[in-house]
Amino acid sequence: MEVKRFTVPLDSSTSTTLTSLWGDIFGGGYDPLPGLYAGEEIHCNDDTIFACIEGSSIIGTLHMTISRKTPSLAGFGEVATLPEYRGRGIATSLLDVAIGCFESKDGRALFLGSGNPAAQRVYERVGFLRLQNSNIFARILSDMPADDFYSEYFEPCGAGEVLAGSPSERIDMIPLLAFPSPSPILDCNLNLFSTTYTHQPSCMGLYPKYESLRQRGGEFFALRNDKGRLVGLATAVMVDDACWMDGFTHPSFSDGLPTLLRAAMDWGTGKTVRYRTKFPVDDSFKQTVFSQLGFRPISADILEWCSEYFCAGR
Ligand SMILES: CC(C)(COP(=O)(O)OP(=O)(O)OC[C@H]1O[C@@H](n2cnc3c(N)ncnc32)[C@H](O)[C@@H]1OP(=O)(O)O)[C@@H](O)C(=O)NCCC(=O)NCCS
Repeated sequence: MEVKRFTVPLDSSTSTTLTSLWGDIFGGGYDPLPGLYAGEEIHCNDDTIFACIEGSSIIGTLHMTISRKTPSLAGFGEVATLPEYRGRGIATSLLDVAIGCFESKDGRALFLGSGNPAAQRVYERVGFLRLQNSNIFARILSDMPADDFYSEYFEPCGAGEVLAGSPSERIDMIPLLAFPSPSPILDCNLNLFSTTYTHQPSCMGLYPKYESLRQRGGEFFALRNDKGRLVGLATAVMVDDACWMDGFTHPSFSDGLPTLLRAAMDWGTGKTVRYRTKFPVDDSFKQTVFSQLGFRPISADILEWCSEYFCAGR
């Protein structure tokens, strides 16, 4: 079985061939990323497509994205075999080759998402384990238990800096969003919920939610710790005359949440004097943080179980 590697940026013919193959296999569940294939994210991520070739045709693929800021993390997507070639070990071989490649670059944790039981069996056979309350599967290299990896990866250290969001967050946000946070709503602007309470169906589909906020005219912000690891995310978007904002951090970095949220508030300065957010009434942590930022409750019934807060005078 010949496995060929295509490194992004792809030439336009390869990009067209792969886009068409993935469109046929995934149908409406496939979101083409022509900018990424053309190299727009090359400074943030290292993307490789592993393709199984028969004759001159691509019959199976796997897309690996390694984060340049955190090269210990990678995500797999577009794991696909043409229907007539399934059940011959093509996906398994591509996974083995890609895992070996990541391992040789000192990679530590791989993530992928799947709701397809046939694919899940293949992933589990090559060492992926499903993370709590999600369709996210992780494979920690050197067979470290996922819990130990999480404890080490999010080990408390100094809060670093808040930056405008970028594709550097594409992979780094997966372990952060999969972590079971005590706050039920992680981000009300994106309908992102904690895996403590709600099943998370997405993995590689998480970053596109943040990207789509930008398409709605909004912005997002990333909190990275002293080690450069992504430990918090916040968003801001104008809806009518108010700036809706929200955010969350890993619990070990909750002290950084006010700074992160202030970046979102600063984005709204000059656009509005009204800021809004929402979270469950019993989320005392968010209530404290938003109160410190000047938010006050204005109603208790925007959602049956949420209060709406706003900040006047900014
Ligand atoms: C999921 C998918 C990628 C699997 O691809 P594949 O190339 O058929 O996978 P493999 O051949 O490695 O493994 C599939 C099965 O064939 C078996 N198999 C592997 N090598 C084999 C061989 N030489 N002979 C017979 N069977 C074999 C595997 O044990 C596995 O068995 P299982 O169904 O009991 O788990 C493919 O079904 C697909 O493209 N699905 C649609 C897209 C999709 O859902 N992708 C996953 C997105 S998350």
